[in-house]
Amino acid sequence: MAVTGDSLGSPGKDLSINLSTEKALEETMLSPRFYTTDFAAIDKISIDGVREEWDKLMCEFERDSNIDHFQRPKDMQENYSKISPEVYDEFVDFLISSITSEFSGCVLYAEIKKRAKNDDMKKLFGYMARDESRHAGFINQWLKDFNIGVDLSFLTKAKKYTFFKPKFIFYATYLSEKIGYARYISIYRQVEKYPEFRFHPIFLWFEKWCNDEFRHGEAFALLMRSDPSLLKGVNLLWIKFFLLAVFATMFVRDHKRPKLHKALNLSPTEYDIQVFEITTEISKQVFPLLLDIKNPNFLKSLKKLSYLNEQIEQCGTKGMFSIRRMILFVKLGVCFARLFFMKSLVNKLPEDFRVKPSW
Ligand SMILES: [Fe+2]
Ligand SMILES: [Fe+2]
Repeated sequence: MAVTGDSLGSPGKDLSINLSTEKALEETMLSPRFYTTDFAAIDKISIDGVREEWDKLMCEFERDSNIDHFQRPKDMQENYSKISPEVYDEFVDFLISSITSEFSGCVLYAEIKKRAKNDDMKKLFGYMARDESRHAGFINQWLKDFNIGVDLSFLTKAKKYTFFKPKFIFYATYLSEKIGYARYISIYRQVEKYPEFRFHPIFLWFEKWCNDEFRHGEAFALLMRSDPSLLKGVNLLWIKFFLLAVFATMFVRDHKRPKLHKALNLSPTEYDIQVFEITTEISKQVFPLLLDIKNPNFLKSLKKLSYLNEQIEQCGTKGMFSIRRMILFVKLGVCFARLFFMKSLVNKLPEDFRVKPSW
């Protein structure tokens, strides 16, 4: 694949479409992944235990309240690429990482819809693929202002797929949908409060957008609540692992974008703490354990992870196999393990577990 240029460039530069696709193809610890799963196991899922709630949720999906939302209005057809060169690289990186996550959901959900024979699953994953495809397409519309775009059909073929059993898909995707909601709504509330920091129009879409993500998360909550075995025994350790992996990845990734956060008048640490709080509150609907995010050691260890990741990145490709890099990786592992063995909090699952997006 031909790649031109050696960085994401700056405003006004003519960039190849392949460069941003290349960025979306990256397979690092922090980059969003594509997933595949066991479709035969998906067929065996029964949601009879939560049928009443399920039918209500399917009606919400059918109503499709965001059907007209993801369109760029005629009065916004001008070019919005003139943002400060300071923020440019981090903002474009944010958009490419977001489109990769959105499209990752789209590909997985569409594949489940196509391959599953279970009507309930076909219906749910069809609705969610519809939403994610709109989200990814919408980001691409704005990327075009910068004369770049991610080639989504190429990405489908070229990106590596990680296999996860359905239960791991549920833990990971539930969290990424709910954390996605918490991130979008927190940014929206910030630019609503301080319009002078809204440096790009895309943030105006986040309020209604995040309701889609919230609803997707509700679907996974129902799937997990319909099978209590997913929420006890050894699976509690998996839940803790996924909570930590998702929280830590977000923290490290956001701390690599200080200029973007500054442009929004946000401190990455405060923003992430707020997102942790919202996500933890919502996850009480389904997870019998919660991370102790208020424990000072929690934040301290996340900061250390972020620092170690920065050091590893500074080793660069030349230092790929250096002893220093290996030592840093061991330290990173120890730090993550320390977080994993921190005492978590017990959460009694509520009888009525549906949550409303009220943040
Ligand atoms: Fe989405
Ligand atoms: Fe979603």
